Amino acid sequence: MSLFKKIYHWIDVRIGSTEIVEKELTGYLLPKNINEWYSLGSVLLVIFALQVVTGMLLLVYYVPDADKAFKSVTYIMNEVPFGWLIRLCHAVGSNLMVFVLMLHMLSTLLMGSYKSPREMNWISGFVLFSLVQGISLTGYLAPWSQLSFWATTVATNSVTAVPLIGTGLVKFLRGGTLVGPATLGRFFALHVAIIPAVIAALIGAHLFFLKRTGVSTPPFGAKETQNNWEGKSYRYEFHPGGIPFFPNYALQDATSVSIYLAIFFALIFFAPTLFFTPDSFVPANPFKTPAHIKPEWYFLANYQTLKIFPSELIGLLVQVAAMTVLALLPFIDRTKERHPLKRPIFLTCAIGGILLWLGLTIWGHYS
Ligand code: HEM
Repeated sequence: MSLFKKIYHWIDVRIGSTEIVEKELTGYLLPKNINEWYSLGSVLLVIFALQVVTGMLLLVYYVPDADKAFKSVTYIMNEVPFGWLIRLCHAVGSNLMVFVLMLHMLSTLLMGSYKSPREMNWISGFVLFSLVQGISLTGYLAPWSQLSFWATTVATNSVTAVPLIGTGLVKFLRGGTLVGPATLGRFFALHVAIIPAVIAALIGAHLFFLKRTGVSTPPFGAKETQNNWEGKSYRYEFHPGGIPFFPNYALQDATSVSIYLAIFFALIFFAPTLFFTPDSFVPANPFKTPAHIKPEWYFLANYQTLKIFPSELIGLLVQVAAMTVLALLPFIDRTKERHPLKRPIFLTCAIGGILLWLGLTIWGHYS
């Protein structure tokens, strides 16, 4: 036995690496008919890691003080070597994360993988989605531009519609009557410490639930197994004769991550201002309201819903109701069938919901 093999054997006996590789990588079998959509979860893990790394690098020069924040961001963009690249990666990455999250949600919706016994996968995912929206909203204020200031004013204003406690809640969120330095302080704490820590813990829980139930068998193509576990007693969904995670599916994951990175860098290099409006290049001025202030694209539907109803309270209630239905979907839709074409009521509601969301978004953009 060569020296290298001896050292490897010595370590392997103590930490059990061969066993781990066999159990978690080469021996971890996935459904034979698994498709590309199942790689979006890995793409999301990469995006989250990139957001954490670029965020930490931005913290080296960013100053969370209302008098200095805008200048520090301008300094990162113009003076710090590759500062522009790090900042664009962070800003473009946050938008793409929401987009990929929507695709991941949509694929689990259409393939019915939210159904029993995967209710916990869905619910943990739903909370993750809300937290990612929260981290985007709080990060939006950080550059302390006209856009940051007024978009945060508009977003926090909508909370006043909550009966009885609305005004107090807005004051608590802002740390005062108006958006100001105190708002920056608390949004900054939420953005860099509190929300990322909760997201990281929830990603852990999401992956734990995945490990507990096993990956679902897609409802298309040659199905080899079908789990008929109804949540009454525990049963792991094995895929005998399926494809190994490593190297086979890891290659699909790597392909999807590469496609994602190609789109990500294409946007950064060829459309760097896509997610910035002219107001994001002007420092915040509490005495000058810009003519057209709009939230980010993924909040436009919510923003438009608040405007179309005679009272903001109704608009808010409609949204809370829609979100509650989506969060509790595994308990509402209890049929076993997972193929989208064999679920006509679900498919009609899903397509209707998507068209409504798109319509409200476009309306919000042009109104
Ligand atoms: C930061 C956010 C998220 C990360 C990092 C993440 C990661 C993952 C990963 C790695 C998987 C396993 C592979 C796959 O099926 O893609 C997965 C599965 C799943 N995710 Fe997510 N996810 C996130 C958000 C969400 C959201 C927002 C939802 C829905 C509301 C969701 C629902 C599910 C479901 C139901 C599965 C099980 C799929 C199956 O076994 O067929 N996830 N997620």
